Amino acid sequence: MTIDTVIPAEGVALDRATEAELQQKAKDHLWMHFARQSGMEAGNGVPIIVRGEGHHIYDSHGKKYIDGLSGLFVVQLGHGRERLAEAARKQAEELAFFPLWSYAHPTAIELADRLADYAPGDLNRVFFTTGGGEAVESAWKLAKQYFKLTGKPMKHKVISRAIAYHGTPQGALAITGIPGMKEMFEPLTPGGFRVPNTNYYRAEEMGFTGSLEEFGQWAANRIEEAILFEGPDTVAAVFLEPVQNSGGCFPPPPGYFARVREICDKYDVLLVSDEVICAYGRIGEMFACTALGYVPDIITSAKGLTSGYSPLGAMIVSDRIYEPFKHGQTAFYHGYTFAGHPVSAAVALENLNIMEEEGILAHVRENSPKFRAALERLKDLPIVGDVRGEGYFFGIELVKNKETKETFNADESERLLRGFLSKALFDAGLYCRADDRGDPVIQLAPPLTIGPAEFDEIEAILRSVLTEAGNLL
Ligand SMILES: Cc1ncc(COP(=O)(O)O)c(C=O)c1O
Repeated sequence: MTIDTVIPAEGVALDRATEAELQQKAKDHLWMHFARQSGMEAGNGVPIIVRGEGHHIYDSHGKKYIDGLSGLFVVQLGHGRERLAEAARKQAEELAFFPLWSYAHPTAIELADRLADYAPGDLNRVFFTTGGGEAVESAWKLAKQYFKLTGKPMKHKVISRAIAYHGTPQGALAITGIPGMKEMFEPLTPGGFRVPNTNYYRAEEMGFTGSLEEFGQWAANRIEEAILFEGPDTVAAVFLEPVQNSGGCFPPPPGYFARVREICDKYDVLLVSDEVICAYGRIGEMFACTALGYVPDIITSAKGLTSGYSPLGAMIVSDRIYEPFKHGQTAFYHGYTFAGHPVSAAVALENLNIMEEEGILAHVRENSPKFRAALERLKDLPIVGDVRGEGYFFGIELVKNKETKETFNADESERLLRGFLSKALFDAGLYCRADDRGDPVIQLAPPLTIGPAEFDEIEAILRSVLTEAGNLL
């Protein structure tokens, strides 16, 4: 069976024999990521997505869905962009592969120059990776070596926030704040410490009462407290997402990042803005730190950089951090064979060209309030506790009791999210994420090209499925 023979035209189902054969092969050989294999082992089959066009995807039965998560916070410009495919084809023909290990190639050079141009402050040096977790891993290693080179060799620890996800390599996992994703791999890289996140809806449970602005100061001050607990001369970096994904899109309260920047400067701790999700237009700017008004020392990014047409990640570093690496025999002994791949870099450049030509950033800024308003209309449903986020990145927190904010216990959450919501939303034509790594949330991060008509469509599907979910309680 070849790909040409299995992929049908838009909206047309795979023939039954092909579908059955693919399901069997998946059952026999495919190991899904972050998923229970038991569904496949039991022979339930797996949804097979065969095609994408704009903000829609199609499954093997020819059924059409709104891609409400841009694949996985990736497909900024939507599916089926011929120019991106063409950029990849052209580059593969010209130079399919060469590493960045002591050599360079034009597309990586051009892309580094372009990213340095977009990045704020003196973040002018770009180190490519193949994805987000590698960028995070690279940033921690860089922070450690930077301090060894600058006479503070004990600085190696990192601080991050509860429930935050920063990737799966054992360093990045030590930065991740989700115990259930870590315990089976312990012991991890030592040196990861957690502080509270910025979920204002749950602030009281963290022991805080007061205004949003005060909460921002309180949450930032927890970082200072952790630095002091651990000893400033042992802490290398703070890793924060501009808007925290895991737990359901926590925006920073006003003043939060200004205070964090102040703290990091005071104790000579690097501020890493983990923008693996938030960069490249998701929050309405190329880098979300620009939208939120702070300048980090390092940005980690991936996902939307190529709109997913080829894998790529990038760590962007300030001149100050780069400085000690410029001299003599010093090197950052770190890298990845496929990092800055010529094809991926060519796709990224074309992706950024299209973003500029189509005014994608302005489009997100203009339409984000309309998206928020559409989702906030759902607050009339008893099961919807909170709606939060920024740009084209929103979370809807589900609650058992709206008055008391009582959440679901593990069994209820299992029944609600896995037993009902994920499948019901998908069946109703909306691919998005129902997540309970923190309190149960539905997350939306659609392609950046959609507008009010699609927001209404998304709201209608959510309304119908969440109403049904509420009736099940
Ligand atoms: C904030 C953040 N950091 C790191 C990662 C890891 O990226 P990857 O899956 O490309 O390794 C993710 C993935 O979703 C992420 O959201």
